[in-house]
Amino acid sequence: MRITVITIFPEFFDSFRTTSIIKRAIEGHRVDFETVDFRSFTLDKHRHVDDTPYGGGQGMVLSCQPIIDALRSVRDERSHVVMMTPQGATFSQKKAARLATYEHLILLCGHYEGFDERIRAYVDEEISIGDYVLTGGEPAALVVCDALIRLLDGVILEDSHEDDSFSDGLLEYPQYTKPAVFEGKAVPEVLLSGHHANIRRWRLKESLRKTKQRRPDLLQHRVLSKEEEALLEE
Ligand code: ADE
Repeated sequence: MRITVITIFPEFFDSFRTTSIIKRAIEGHRVDFETVDFRSFTLDKHRHVDDTPYGGGQGMVLSCQPIIDALRSVRDERSHVVMMTPQGATFSQKKAARLATYEHLILLCGHYEGFDERIRAYVDEEISIGDYVLTGGEPAALVVCDALIRLLDGVILEDSHEDDSFSDGLLEYPQYTKPAVFEGKAVPEVLLSGHHANIRRWRLKESLRKTKQRRPDLLQHRVLSKEEEALLEE
């Protein structure tokens, strides 16, 4: 998969692309990650990417020309273009899984008071990472890239995402590692038993318990199996 981030702050992604799992995914050619600086597409000699708003008011608005020219320099018929904005549809694990299926994803990051409204006609969708306003789209694009790159084939062990929180509509069950007792706090007995069926049941029950306690909204949107219903009652 190829990901292009269109931004005036390409350096924002430096540590992202050179650290840990993302670095390995890039080096292993699981993902081709690039940034394009739309300031380099400006035509005026001061390299301005924004201007004052028509109708007056505070702040600046990102102009169409540099962004649309930057977009045209990388876009082809296989590209899917996403604008990062607080006005977009809220990002989720489900959206990450869909975005991970595109051959070429282009993420457009804005700044200042926002984009000239006409830019919206050139994008396929708008995504927000939550109901709060960031100084720019870069942190949001980074979140989206991270969530989808880890889903690409060969980036992390396949089995690990099956257990992810949200991948089956529930929060993940509690995990423990050595030692079996830490400062008097013991690991649940069942996990030391080696009894796979009991461990699976315990994990499912804990997932359901945690989800009901912390995110009851997730249970409202999910159809429970007979086994899950019984475990929730226990
Ligand atoms: N740009 C500014 N705030 C944002 C948000 N919450 N999500 C996506 N892009 C943004």
